[in-house]
Amino acid sequence: MFNSRICSINDTNELSSEVSKIVKQGTILLLNGELGSGKTQFVRFLGNHLNVLDSISSPTFLILNIYESDKNFKIYHFDFYRVNSIEELEQIGFFEILNQRKGLIIVEWANRYKDLFLNETDRTIDIYFNFIKDNINQREISIKGSK
Ligand SMILES: Nc1ncnc2c1ncn2[C@@H]1O[C@H](COP(=O)(O)OP(=O)(O)OP(=O)(O)O)[C@@H](O)[C@H]1O
Ligand SMILES: [Mg+2]
Repeated sequence: MFNSRICSINDTNELSSEVSKIVKQGTILLLNGELGSGKTQFVRFLGNHLNVLDSISSPTFLILNIYESDKNFKIYHFDFYRVNSIEELEQIGFFEILNQRKGLIIVEWANRYKDLFLNETDRTIDIYFNFIKDNINQREISIKGSK
């Protein structure tokens, strides 16, 4: 997969389509980037390509949303922005979800607890969303580690 691309909204959609083709049971997508850089939008598009029927929203207030996809696996959509401790993650079952190696795990603001994923590099895809100076209509998106 490519390293870095300048993406309009439509390009983000195309990119999510490419990613939808390589995710499998146990894949972890780590999404990082400033507030409003396009992480949730990417997940929404990705959900469409995986034929998720539920509507995808920002899990900011919930920490975790779970969707069903027609690929016969669940999508666990975390947002670590408001997670204050590892205990909170324990309480919502994060570690069971991580260790069962089933479904697709997506984590917005993953860098807030990046140590949790150090031993998972074989199934991790890192996606970075960056604002472009003086251009609100596009983002620079980088991908690392897709297998
Ligand atoms: N490639 C893009 N080009 C231009 N605008 C975009 C692009 N991707 C997303 N956006 C827009 O950016 C805005 C914020 O997107 P989004 O909510 O996905 O950000 P986020 O990274 O999830 O933010 P947060 O950290 O608050 O969860 C939305 O209005 C969305 O439509
Ligand atoms: Mg978001």
